[in-house]
Amino acid sequence: MLTGGGDCPGLNAVIRAVVRGGIDSFGDEIVGFRDGWRGVLDGSCVALDIEATRGILPRGGTILGSSRTNPYKRDDGLALVRETLEQLRVDALIAIGGEDTLGVANRLHQDGVNVIGVPKTIDNDLGATDVTFGFDTALQIATEAIDRLHTTAESHNRILVVEVMGRSAGWIALHAGIAGGADVILIPEIAFDIDEVCRRIERRHSRGRYFSIVVAAEGATPKAGTMEVLTGDVDEFGHPRLGGIGARLEQEIEKRTGYETRATVLGHVQRGGTPTAFDRVLATRLGLAAINAAHDGAWGMMTSLRGTAIELVTLADAVAEVRRVPTEEYERFGVLLG
Ligand code: F6P
Repeated sequence: MLTGGGDCPGLNAVIRAVVRGGIDSFGDEIVGFRDGWRGVLDGSCVALDIEATRGILPRGGTILGSSRTNPYKRDDGLALVRETLEQLRVDALIAIGGEDTLGVANRLHQDGVNVIGVPKTIDNDLGATDVTFGFDTALQIATEAIDRLHTTAESHNRILVVEVMGRSAGWIALHAGIAGGADVILIPEIAFDIDEVCRRIERRHSRGRYFSIVVAAEGATPKAGTMEVLTGDVDEFGHPRLGGIGARLEQEIEKRTGYETRATVLGHVQRGGTPTAFDRVLATRLGLAAINAAHDGAWGMMTSLRGTAIELVTLADAVAEVRRVPTEEYERFGVLLG
């Protein structure tokens, strides 16, 4: 088993469920690779039994460590993965991750490795599953932060910009913004017009509401040519490091409206700490389904939440495309903003 990509509350619940299910129901021996695909390349792993996973259910992060290592970035990557699995006599690999980790799992499956996927990400942007664990926890944290920012924004008659994570999907921004009663929500799926953002804030002022909350997804982008933004380095999967839109909005809004504006970047706070009950239960269900799928030889499949049921879908379907917020879904909430 391995955990790859950005860590996420609920990973330990999956690890515990796989270990308990594997040992109690099937008498398996289980090892965990350290730091995602890096541990498979290096052959670095730890034995996982019931004792080793005791007490981890409510803990955030992952006891196995994680990384954004991509074995297919190296010419000898596939050979090294095969070598490690052969040396350790691994019959099945359970990869817990988001689109990058599961993209690798899918390629390995095509290359003949026995692999099962489990979806995780706070971004909630994976295909072929209704929701990913970690999202609910991140949402609670972001919503609580917005609630807190509301009271200080109101006390000081300020515009507060909250930058949340989500990479190229606006799920955290949209849901936290709606749950927290934000006045403006900016998501990566729809390029924003800074003039329109300022107009909304000014309209609130003209109606006697002298503070506003602007929730911006880290991937939110302005309409071309309207506002300058920064770009970051890319990781082994080609994703740029995001962040900085909150600070840019702070400057632009203050400059254009004259109202005092401050930005808060929630950052990794959204990913850390204990998972919500919902995420613990979902992660546990997905983990139990994964060990059963391995014993059924369902290679190339991923455990997934469909409605209220846990089902198996193909990894290929899950990673085919990033699941983004549909425009209609965003527009449906329009009446609540401003
Ligand atoms: O995919 C999860 C996530 O937290 C994204 O929301 C964010 O863009 C990215 O990871 C940050 O990655 P890192 O922790 O490597 O900076």
